[in-house]
Amino acid sequence: MNEKKTAGEKAAEFVEDGMTIGLGTGSTVYYTIRKIGERVQNGLKITGVPTSQATAVLARGCGIPLADLNDTDTIDLTIDGADEVDPALNGIKGGGGALLFEKLVANASKKNIWVVDHSKQVEKLGAYPLPVEVIPFGWKQIMKIFEEKGFRPVLRMKNGQPFQTDGGHYIVDIRAGHAGDMVALGKWLDGLTGVVEHGLFLGTCDLVVVGDGESVSMRE
Ligand code: 5RP
Repeated sequence: MNEKKTAGEKAAEFVEDGMTIGLGTGSTVYYTIRKIGERVQNGLKITGVPTSQATAVLARGCGIPLADLNDTDTIDLTIDGADEVDPALNGIKGGGGALLFEKLVANASKKNIWVVDHSKQVEKLGAYPLPVEVIPFGWKQIMKIFEEKGFRPVLRMKNGQPFQTDGGHYIVDIRAGHAGDMVALGKWLDGLTGVVEHGLFLGTCDLVVVGDGESVSMRE
């Protein structure tokens, strides 16, 4: 059973006529977007707000009308993936590098649903590398700070070049498992000059749809 598909498609059922929907990024929400696209072909009227160029291309291909975040007052619901989610529905996101736009859209949303396969559920956040989005200028200085703190930073690469986000930034993946207090870590990262955003999404998610074997479960 494809757990990403079952979770992703299930979440599309939460979309109602007239809603403005934040469209996340990744291989699980891909199925949500495809399913929403099918419903749009059958008459559902919604507006999508994409969180990445890749999602905009996918959604447009599915016939979903899109709006820019700047032209959107309120987002009724955002559906997105996650890399880790703990029992309190805190998570790590940004494995696909879209964390900055994802967080902006999530923060503008009345409700956030995450779609995951069962492997994403963890007791404690931090085994998955935490993405930190940094400005390209002086990125090595930030790496130094992370190294001194024992975060074993790695600059994310693609085709032999630094991976560039849709916002034109770099991603440094850090090992945050030993940090313990993720709220404190998030605040520390928020205050670091040159850090644009990080993949700790704390208190953002309202409902997780989990694909687990043959079934789908919900946690809120
Ligand atoms: C992209 C993300 C994704 O939602 C996250 O990486 C999960 O992706 P997938 O559903 O492909 O496992 O945060 O920035």
